[in-house]
Amino acid sequence: MRILGIETSCDETAAAVVETTDDLARPWAVRSSVISSQADIHREWGGVVPEIASRQHVADICGVVERALSDAGVRAADIDAVAVTQGPGLVGSLLVGVSFAKAFAAARALPVVAVHHLAGHIESLVLEHGELPLPAVVLVVSGGHTSLYFVPSRGVYRLVGQTRDDAAGEAYDKVAKLLGLGYPGGPAVDALAETGRDDVVSLPLPRFTHADRNEAPADLKVDEFPPSVRKMAEFSFSGLKSAAVRHLEKHGPGNVADFCASFQRVVVGTLVDRLFAVAGALGAKSVGIVGGVSANRRLRRDVLARGQRERMPVFVPPVSLSTDNAAMIAAAGLRRMAMQGASPLEFNAQATLPMASDRS
Ligand code: KG4
Ligand code: ZN
Repeated sequence: MRILGIETSCDETAAAVVETTDDLARPWAVRSSVISSQADIHREWGGVVPEIASRQHVADICGVVERALSDAGVRAADIDAVAVTQGPGLVGSLLVGVSFAKAFAAARALPVVAVHHLAGHIESLVLEHGELPLPAVVLVVSGGHTSLYFVPSRGVYRLVGQTRDDAAGEAYDKVAKLLGLGYPGGPAVDALAETGRDDVVSLPLPRFTHADRNEAPADLKVDEFPPSVRKMAEFSFSGLKSAAVRHLEKHGPGNVADFCASFQRVVVGTLVDRLFAVAGALGAKSVGIVGGVSANRRLRRDVLARGQRERMPVFVPPVSLSTDNAAMIAAAGLRRMAMQGASPLEFNAQATLPMASDRS
């Protein structure tokens, strides 16, 4: 089967062609993956402007899909199915991809499969490394999410816990903004931190303290994991962000590289500690880190080193598959098609969306 993947959940317009293989251990092969980033447009505003993002998706989607087909050396008639991100994300942006996917499929009587964006991020690991040793625990860490998923079997993703306030990538972006490093801030903080000392500025560890600050999300099944494990999977980054603001107001940035390195030590330390704590508690045979922040150099180094020390296989996608792309959506679409078949055409874009395996 050859599937066209479409991703427009935030500020990247992406399309990809992915095929199934005969190899059960490496079930998918990427034929093309095209990403048109709007980062240059949103940089001027210091963050993603939803209205501008959806208009830009409309302008770019046809060209991006045409390019994905031509890079793969196929025509529209050679496509067997379409996978598209249904959510979560910016609803106006998601709508462009969903409408395009439905129209493309309707014109050729093809099946469409609706994909959860985070299922896509998780399957980016399989695209790169082949099927994971299961059960696995996967940390999804991006601009919008910091969530830990338990993967007991192929295509099943169970939310163990997530951030109660800011996502880790959001904290990176806010600190970068405070330091005048531009948008998106993660890569800039990452690069500067490489040249700084990480023990110069003392910032508190982000710890979730107020049990009732936010409602638990709909797909968090409170009885599925013991409370002690759910607690390990709860993140909070707003305290760290406020501490960074206070420090900068009081002392100024000082050496910006040292500040970035110190901030990053706290974020990366928390992410890696929680990931391994949950993996240990749930008897995982492997761990993974996916999403935009998994491009971070220190995070990659630290998680791989920790895996070696603890003899735990660690998987991280290459940078090209870390940030938003459509190859991962195509892969998750193939998985879902094989397990549950196509989606009924009534599905719509959803800004918040529980994971499929928690809906059924
Ligand atoms: O997965 P992604 O492309 O989009 C979302 O679904 O959010 O992630 C984007 C996020 C941004 O917050 C960006 O600053 C962060 O990932 N990011 C990084 C790095 N590269 C991207 N954060 C830290 N270090 C990086 N190298
Ligand atoms: Zn993402």
